[in-house]
Amino acid sequence: MRPFVFHNPTRLIFGKGKLSALKEEVSKYGKNVLLVYGGGSIKRSGLYDQVLSLLKEAGVSVTELAGVEPNPRLSTVHKGVSLCREHSIDLILAVGGGSVIDCSKAIAVGAKYDGDMWDFVERKATPQGALPLGTVLTMAATGSEMNGGSVITNEATKEKMGWGSPWAYPAFSILDPVHTFTLPRDQTVYGIVDIMSHVLEHYFHQDTNTPVQDGFCETILRTMIDTAPKLVEDLENYELRETVMYCGTMALNGMINMGMAGDWATHNIEHAVSAVYDIPHGGGLAIVFPNWMKYNLPAQPARFKSLAVNVFGIDPAGKSDEEAGLEGIGALRRFWSSIGAPSTLADYNIDDSEIEAMADKAMRFGPFGNFRKLQREDVVEIYKMSL
Ligand code: NZQ
Ligand code: ZN
Repeated sequence: MRPFVFHNPTRLIFGKGKLSALKEEVSKYGKNVLLVYGGGSIKRSGLYDQVLSLLKEAGVSVTELAGVEPNPRLSTVHKGVSLCREHSIDLILAVGGGSVIDCSKAIAVGAKYDGDMWDFVERKATPQGALPLGTVLTMAATGSEMNGGSVITNEATKEKMGWGSPWAYPAFSILDPVHTFTLPRDQTVYGIVDIMSHVLEHYFHQDTNTPVQDGFCETILRTMIDTAPKLVEDLENYELRETVMYCGTMALNGMINMGMAGDWATHNIEHAVSAVYDIPHGGGLAIVFPNWMKYNLPAQPARFKSLAVNVFGIDPAGKSDEEAGLEGIGALRRFWSSIGAPSTLADYNIDDSEIEAMADKAMRFGPFGNFRKLQREDVVEIYKMSL
């Protein structure tokens, strides 16, 4: 393990009926609340009305920012920052999926900064403060509800990049699996792929003596493989939604990967695809991850063998590490295809015309990947394998 400090300040409020906690939580922060949400799913599900009535009971004054896009845009962040200033906002309340929460995090730090929030994404400045943020999660996927990360798309420059800060952790997050019942099958699949990909990013590391962390990762992956196929056929099953929601938060709240640095190249490679083509993050990961694996298999086959044996139950007898590892990669691809995830860029009508541009975007901060450092030519090759 590498030395580490672990500190996660988010108050996690989990379970059926827990939305009622909103009234007490909101009352801690002041009178003016900015309610941030997406394209309308919370109105259709009735969650919007429930939230508004609890905010009314709490006696706060509500300003709204509606219409946060999937792959949230910088221009929407700017709108939110202006609203915070105009209405002297005390608390931002994000109700939605990762996009709504990520946008709200950017608004929270942007409201305390005189320059453009994009400076933080470009590493030109570091957040020095933030408005408090609370969340009500409606989609299990990103883990944004309990981490300090956020991903923003600059639609003018077609860049999509992550940034993070200790200031970006939500102060509280309310997770009731019932709020995810209305999530359609395709989005549910994207969430499943994203959750598994976060665990896989951790799993491919170079640190030694991490038996517990590796075991946590394998347990979450096996649980997802057991649960996901049942969930996509039974979208309103509370226990299945509950399991996936818990996996989603644990996959990226820092608990399972203490003392190790995961790879994270695949996320960078995917973000460049969704920057140019605005495709769902989970869909992009389903396409790219197995190809990242195949590309890196020969360099470190033992790790891929562990995944194959411990997660996919592949019998390694009589096989080289590389052969067993390749079977595991095939099993992952088949699993994701079986629940309806895309497997090639062509599934989104993406051809090779933007590969060079996407590689440039992915290389923005130089070679990347902690398991194996990728150069530009490696990234181009992985895009070609994904066509
Ligand atoms: O906008 P609305 O109408 O709410 O609809 C959303 C959206 O169309 C819909 N949805 C969400 N909950 C629903 C629902 N529809 C019906 N019922 C519900 N209960 O689902 C669609 C997708 O939502 P979105 O928030 O975009 O999905 P997700 O949670 O996957 O977030 C994706 C964004 O997060 C970033 C991604 O890159 C992408 O921009 N990520 C953020 C991370 C983080 N902050 O830690 C890490 C991730 O790796 C990821 O990169
Ligand atoms: Zn992700």
